[in-house]
Amino acid sequence: MRVITTIKELQTEMALQKKKDKTIGFVPTMGYLHEGHLTLIRRARQENDLVVVSIFVNPIQFGPTEDYTSYPRDFERDRVLAEWENVDYLFYPSVEEMYPHKLSVKLTVQDRTDVLCGKSRPGHFDGVATVITKLFNIVMPTRAYFGKKDAQQVAVIEGVIADFNFPIELVAVDIVREADGLAKSSRNVNLLPEERLEAPILFKSLTAATTPIDQGERNPAKIENVIKEMISNESNGEIDYVEIYSYPQLKPVKTLAGRVIIALAVKFSKVRLIDNVIIEIAGS
Ligand code: PAJ
Repeated sequence: MRVITTIKELQTEMALQKKKDKTIGFVPTMGYLHEGHLTLIRRARQENDLVVVSIFVNPIQFGPTEDYTSYPRDFERDRVLAEWENVDYLFYPSVEEMYPHKLSVKLTVQDRTDVLCGKSRPGHFDGVATVITKLFNIVMPTRAYFGKKDAQQVAVIEGVIADFNFPIELVAVDIVREADGLAKSSRNVNLLPEERLEAPILFKSLTAATTPIDQGERNPAKIENVIKEMISNESNGEIDYVEIYSYPQLKPVKTLAGRVIIALAVKFSKVRLIDNVIIEIAGS
């Protein structure tokens, strides 16, 4: 595995590999790798000649009061894990390498960001779209791998790929969970011990919400309330949102029908966690 820290070197290397008709699978990450990231990497490994993983905690996707500085980082550990997964290139640029000066062009995501994390984290998806556009131009992958844990991010990247004509196939991978159901996240290490015990209620409440749906409940507000009640009864987390939308359009639904996403975000003392389930409503 080669660790590359400059854009120029990676671009040169990728051009060389493309000339040899190699397919390239790309997994962008912010590091502190866990089983969720590794699942994306393994999928990329199966489907491509070469695998590129990037590790870059992207400052421009964090709000001024968010956890950019406390976001967990451990490059040595990540390097060992990536090597173990047979990654070919690990791209690890500095902030100065990615943003040497103030950007002269800024991307603004204008579709599907008025809901969920887009609403609670203004500018977040502009920062994601910008860094992903840069990374796509640097790596020029055949396929790019993203997790459904960040379902809205998947929808936003689909927009980037379509609008800017990237010849890249987006592969969306299922959420990987801990044994107790908690979605794996780099941020889970910043939960206090008692919060870690409470956090599985997020997924438990999403799962429990499918029972009234199976019994015929079609009012989204009622389902959202079932989830909110479970979370407030069983944790000290502060609910940021619990919302149901059509998927992948992310439009409000008056009556549950077709494919919908039930998504939530909950703030604990040092971290904000997200989770979701995407379900198909029977008989619609
Ligand atoms: P990060 O949070 O490090 O996640 C990198 C990728 O791993 C994302 O596509 C994310 O959805 C996926 N992932 C994280 N936890 C997962 C889990 N439990 N199951 C399945 N997939 C999971 O998302 C980002 O970084 C950044 O926004 C990035 C796309 C790199 C842009 O900066």
